[in-house]
Amino acid sequence: MGVLDGKVALVTGASKGIGAGIAKGLAAAGASVVVNYGSSKEDANRVVSVIAEQGGKAFAAQGDVSKSGDVKRLFAEVVREFGGLDVLVNNAGVYSFGRLESVRETEFHRQYNTNVLGTLLATQEAVKLFGEKGGSIINIGTAGTHNPGPAMVLYLSTKGSIDIITQVLAKELGPKKIRVNSINPGGTETEGAHALGVIGSDFEKHLISQTPLGRFGQPEDIAPVAVFLSSEASRWITGEILLASGGMR
Ligand SMILES: NC(=O)c1ccc[n+]([C@@H]2O[C@H](COP(=O)([O-])OP(=O)(O)OC[C@H]3O[C@@H](n4cnc5c(N)ncnc54)[C@H](OP(=O)(O)O)[C@@H]3O)[C@@H](O)[C@H]2O)c1
Repeated sequence: MGVLDGKVALVTGASKGIGAGIAKGLAAAGASVVVNYGSSKEDANRVVSVIAEQGGKAFAAQGDVSKSGDVKRLFAEVVREFGGLDVLVNNAGVYSFGRLESVRETEFHRQYNTNVLGTLLATQEAVKLFGEKGGSIINIGTAGTHNPGPAMVLYLSTKGSIDIITQVLAKELGPKKIRVNSINPGGTETEGAHALGVIGSDFEKHLISQTPLGRFGQPEDIAPVAVFLSSEASRWITGEILLASGGMR
């Protein structure tokens, strides 16, 4: 028996990194999981295979969270395959770092469209699907918004928006029995972090030096927090921004 037996969860951006870790964690706890991806079909299928090998239930579904048509199609697929939804994890996100003078319109829209608009569009559809039983929404922010440093104005402003979205929607959706919480990870080793050159860099060393538990995070460190926020054990918790960062703040 898993704590999420009988639940259906959709994890956006679950083909890689933290999203893939959360999808596997929710499935291991008994949930049927929709592994959303933007462009990495093979990676998403690999996550589904791992879940199936461990006796879990999952399918991969393409959809760019920043496009309302894609999001509507994605949720229609969730209904077709699993008949409803209990948990939405708004994990799909993109990031790059740089100082004020490096901010460009295209990168502004890429980050805001995925990180902020994508979260709002997916949440709109989830609310329609949850129905009278309610549900749990888990947003993925970042620990960086608690102690914002330089050269991250664009990315951290998108994630500051996530902190606010969580707090506003917890109040707005509470009467519908929908809980809204954020997990704010510290530095975590993912495909995205590797692609950006964070792993092995001085920046990684700096982050570790600020982390009381003395290492970089892994997706497997974040997944159990998502299981908790998806489960009955967290039924009295909403509007929380939970740092999962080894104590870095
Ligand atoms: N890694 C860290 O240190 C860290 C720390 C704090 C917070 N976070 C947050 O955690 C989340 C995941 O980060 P990560 O490091 O795991 O990233 P990652 O390894 O780059 O993976 C990103 C995932 O998001 C998907 N994605 C990107 N744009 C999408 C879109 N428009 N529609 C649907 N899916 C999309 C990607 O799918 P495709 O490849 O299929 O497009 C991929 O599955 C992000 O919100 C990030 O801001 C990360």
